[in-house]
Amino acid sequence: MKTKSPSNYNALQISVHWLTALLILAAFILVWTFDNTPLAPDTFKLKLQLIAWHKWAGITVLMLFAIRLACKLVRGTPAIDPNLKPIERKMAVGVHHLLYLLMFALPLIGWALTSAKGYPVMLYGVWQLPDLVAKNEDLAHTLKEIHEVLAYGLLAIVGLHIAGALKHYVIDKDGTLARMIPFLKR
Ligand code: HEM
Repeated sequence: MKTKSPSNYNALQISVHWLTALLILAAFILVWTFDNTPLAPDTFKLKLQLIAWHKWAGITVLMLFAIRLACKLVRGTPAIDPNLKPIERKMAVGVHHLLYLLMFALPLIGWALTSAKGYPVMLYGVWQLPDLVAKNEDLAHTLKEIHEVLAYGLLAIVGLHIAGALKHYVIDKDGTLARMIPFLKR
């Protein structure tokens, strides 16, 4: 897919990367808090707000994914460290591809699951997004299970991604992590 290979990530690519990381973390914290909030008259509004924020975080991840993909196509991304062993290179590329797939599929399935439950997605409480599918309880149930599996799959892949980045920094002592955290270069 990539045609160009600049030596660095630019400010937009770095911002999109860290904002996406923060929003994915927020999406997990919000939905776990939602799950642990009892359904009672005095917590009902809070519960609704938590799941609405979860959806906003997730849809924003989807929008940032579109920007990330556009940057990759137009500007390209720096080449993977040429000193990696072939197996390490394969793992790095595999993890990146899985991250791309999940950053796209997971929010989209969350959105479709909300539509199948018969609820509209109100982005930031202002814009009503179109329904992706018609109301269908059976489909909603299936999509919820897929959403859950993909979410925990994403968590595992993010774990591998972080482990890889730390290996570069602590063991290989190369400049890979500094490409995403420029102040580490100093
Ligand atoms: C980065 C994106 C997202 C992540 C990491 C994520 C993660 C999760 C997780 C971990 C759960 C709980 C699964 C469980 O243990 O039961 C969940 C549930 C859910 N998510 Fe997402 N999600 C994302 C995006 C979205 C989006 C974009 C929407 C809708 C627009 C959405 C709607 C929902 C709904 C409706 C539930 C079920 C809540 C319930 O009724 O229990 N998610 N999500």
